[in-house]
Amino acid sequence: MRLLEDKILKEGIPLSDSVLKVDSFINHQVDPTVMKEIGKVLADHYRDKGITKVFTIEASGIAPALCTAQELGVPLVILKKQTSKTLSSDVLQTNITSFTKGTSYELTLSRKYISPDDNILVIDDFLANGEAASGAAKLIEAGGGRVEGIAILIEKSFQKGRNRLNEAGYKVTSLARISHLAKGVIEFCEADI
Ligand code: G4P
Repeated sequence: MRLLEDKILKEGIPLSDSVLKVDSFINHQVDPTVMKEIGKVLADHYRDKGITKVFTIEASGIAPALCTAQELGVPLVILKKQTSKTLSSDVLQTNITSFTKGTSYELTLSRKYISPDDNILVIDDFLANGEAASGAAKLIEAGGGRVEGIAILIEKSFQKGRNRLNEAGYKVTSLARISHLAKGVIEFCEADI
């Protein structure tokens, strides 16, 4: 997606050869115009796929996932990283370890929001090692749902996430694919849309 690649080139800051800072438009300050456009592009791509719900993982996936869900006219479900007191006890959980952040958490989904009739589009901001997306897919399937596809804003193609998800049978659609990252250098390979 040209608009997203241009935005990454203009505002993204490579912090190292594996981490890109995008907090001016994705994960701290959010650019609503870019998010709305992402929502339209993803909704167009998945419109005839019978998506019943969009799923994301809190927090940075919420903005693009909400825009996409709104375009598709389906609910958005936010997978939780922390169990809250208001969450019922009837939940599905899986442990996620983030290699980028060196943290781990219990990804949580209330059984109320997944059923065997569901055909789910998962959306997240970054794809690195695929831990979060694999965990999301695991919860969806544990609840009887089907994963139609996994859509990613920024895929770091030099990490193993995409291959891992493909090998597990999931279709990955990335709007921007970074092939090489170094201080001061961002290179893309061909995106899926
Ligand atoms: P994985 O799910 O693909 O295995 O990724 P990993 O565990 O390595 O990374 C998890 C967290 O790190 C995610 O944020 C993801 O967005 C973030 N992340 C990964 N690579 C980058 C990067 O190059 N730049 C930035 N800015 N973030 C990156 P999270 O813990 O889910 O946090 P949140 O921002 O969604 O709350």
